[in-house]
Amino acid sequence: MMLRHQETDMNEWITICAIDEIPVLGARRVARAQGLDVAVFRTASGEVFALLDRCPHKGGPLSQGLVFGSSVACPLHNWTIALATGEAAAPDEGCTPRFAVRLEGSAVQLRADELAGHALAQTRPVAGPVGLGRCGSAASSCSPSPSSVAA
Ligand code: FES
Repeated sequence: MMLRHQETDMNEWITICAIDEIPVLGARRVARAQGLDVAVFRTASGEVFALLDRCPHKGGPLSQGLVFGSSVACPLHNWTIALATGEAAAPDEGCTPRFAVRLEGSAVQLRADELAGHALAQTRPVAGPVGLGRCGSAASSCSPSPSSVAA
């Protein structure tokens, strides 16, 4: 997905799409110039959430998971990730970084500063035993930003 327009002020919100362009109980990916994609989710009640498109387990693409309630099930091993916090449901442990997202009318917006600089250290998983395993330390990388605005 290409951004609709680029703001020069890093504190600005950037429109990424219209709410109707995100399937209900689905997601859209937003590519960034650096770092992994951001997955923007839409719930049945019209809320939107944004997380790094990387499962805290082994890096699965959360944007391809099944949204239910206010969670997403990772398509690889079915971990449940809370959309509001990015945290895995117990007994699993781990957290994926979240991004601030809001609705301005029907426009879904993300913050320019977060798109440019948040969670850049998170990388794609490496095949084989190196880089695999639970990401118990990932909780510290979760954004403190609010991640949802009701429609
Ligand atoms: S990579 Fe998501 S549950 Fe394993």
